[in-house]
Amino acid sequence: MTQQRGVTVWFTGLSGAGKTTISQAVAEKLRSLDCKLEILDGDIVRQNLTKGLGFSKEDRDENIRRIGFVSHLLTRNGVIVLVSAISPYRAVREEVKARIGDFVEVFVNAPLAVCEDRDVKGLYKKARSGEIANFTGISDPYEPPTDPTLECRTDLESHEESVNKVLDTLKEMGYLS
Ligand code: PPS
Ligand code: MG
Repeated sequence: MTQQRGVTVWFTGLSGAGKTTISQAVAEKLRSLDCKLEILDGDIVRQNLTKGLGFSKEDRDENIRRIGFVSHLLTRNGVIVLVSAISPYRAVREEVKARIGDFVEVFVNAPLAVCEDRDVKGLYKKARSGEIANFTGISDPYEPPTDPTLECRTDLESHEESVNKVLDTLKEMGYLS
């Protein structure tokens, strides 16, 4: 199996839904296939490319636009770009999708109660107590995709199933042969 064209695979969903976990497992699989790839993860990007931005709507949209800009440059140079960012606002996701063109939107979906129960980083607890403001799903909105390319229900399917769904989609769409 060899890579043919660049594409951005954009994982959107609540904190703790599994965006980072799935994208890293997809990356591992793609590496084993010798694909050119890059990962842009919100938590990492916010330490450099978008350092200083917060979680207001304006800052989140700016974060997503910058991630989208870099994704576009890489995608048009034949790289598979794996983005994992909450990207809670539909309009800016659509904007980035239209700009990049070769774009696969993956809705990483688990009910808020499940994400909150997982509370991997303890952020939901802090959001509930008011220690963190504007927390997605608690005190800030999340607009789910209306027509994602793919949905991974991480509360109902295994990580392996989710990863295989992403890879199958890339094959079906002609990004992997
Ligand atoms: S966004 O909305 O797309 O700009 O967010 P993103 O760049 O993906 O950053 C999300 C990560 O930041 C941490 N964090 C928060 N998330 C949501 N709301 C608030 N207020 C917040 N504050 C910090 C959190 O670790 C997110 O990572 P994930 O991987 O989604 O849990
Ligand atoms: Mg993450």
